[in-house]
Amino acid sequence: MLNSVIIYCRPGFEKEAAAEITDLASAIGVFGYPKVIENSAWISFVTHDENGALQLMEQLDFASLIFARQWFAASPLMENLPEKDRIGPLIERVKEMERVKEVASGKFSDFRFSDWSVEYPDTNEGKELSPFCRKITVPLRQSLKRSGLLISSVKNAEKASEKLSNKFSSKFRLHLMFLSGREAWVGISRIDNSSSWVMGIPRLRQPKGAPSRATLKLEEAWHCFIPEKEWATRIPAGKRAIDLGAAPGGWTWQLVEQGMFVDAVDNGPMAPELMATGMVDHIQGDAFTYEPKKPVYWLVSDIADKPARVADLVGRWIAKGLCREAVFNLKLPMKQRYKEVLNCRNKIDARVTEAGIRYELRFRQLYHDREEVTGHIRVLIG
Ligand SMILES: C[S@@+](CC[C@H](N)C(=O)[O-])C[C@H]1O[C@@H](n2cnc3c(N)ncnc32)[C@H](O)[C@@H]1O
Repeated sequence: MLNSVIIYCRPGFEKEAAAEITDLASAIGVFGYPKVIENSAWISFVTHDENGALQLMEQLDFASLIFARQWFAASPLMENLPEKDRIGPLIERVKEMERVKEVASGKFSDFRFSDWSVEYPDTNEGKELSPFCRKITVPLRQSLKRSGLLISSVKNAEKASEKLSNKFSSKFRLHLMFLSGREAWVGISRIDNSSSWVMGIPRLRQPKGAPSRATLKLEEAWHCFIPEKEWATRIPAGKRAIDLGAAPGGWTWQLVEQGMFVDAVDNGPMAPELMATGMVDHIQGDAFTYEPKKPVYWLVSDIADKPARVADLVGRWIAKGLCREAVFNLKLPMKQRYKEVLNCRNKIDARVTEAGIRYELRFRQLYHDREEVTGHIRVLIG
């Protein structure tokens, strides 16, 4: 019954998201096929096994996916929801699905949710559903509660679970994704193996004073790649960072906000207010030949150039011990975009492994990325 993995992605990147999940699924022996509607901002991957979606998601690490913003294991698409009572059939479906979940996972003695969301695709058409989704949320919540399917908060869930059973934990989030007023996917994701943002879309505000909108890419990258409790030690105030392709300074602004000193490398002009902080040195030169005299903690790069060149640069910096962590943006070509990211990953893997360095490397197409993906590499010490 839970045989479709629904994946949200950036509109226009459905083929990439599909190729990626198909590759990963076949590598672990879960067989199925993707279904793609171009520019719909979501795909489904249908598994041959009746409950294959949940099995697939149990075996994959959401953090390792590049093109997925969010995912959930869904039961078959609900079509023809009656306009007069959409809620009744939806609740029935959640109940049915829950029974399967228990059987599939074998270890849950309770099936209530503490986290749930009403969703729609991130397209103009999808956004037209937003008022409808807002409207249906309140009665849906009431019905879910009345049916004993919902616990209002995580705290309550923990309390209730203590009483009911030691085994129970509210591990799953419920997703109700509407494609129209009559069609919906109903499914679940593991809270600890999915995005904590609804539909994988972070609610970040353009900071006042940041010189470009690109600033949000670096902020989102940190949210995505670094647990917030580690920000203070891993984006350490007082230490130095290098920003390659820095102008006008949106990424530099983020680093300065964290209290870091920045060498900003770009031939273009930096925002005067940022230079006035006294924490930035503007180096007018070529990002591909520049190297710091002493190793620094952070390298960030938003250079507009070929992705393979940027991957070579990042591999070299890490292999030579020039930085500990890097966030870098890869501007993707028009075609073969998934393959291009894999090529770049292989280049970095080869160079850093050859240098005998332990590291972790991830890529993600962030919400604020356009025709690009963001990479993060961190040297592991000890
Ligand atoms: C997307 S913009 C960077 C925006 C910046 N991260 C921000 O938040 O304001 C790309 C920058 O890369 C710079 N760039 C491209 N090739 C470069 C190179 N070889 N050396 C230095 N900068 C380069 C461009 O001048 C441009 O300012």
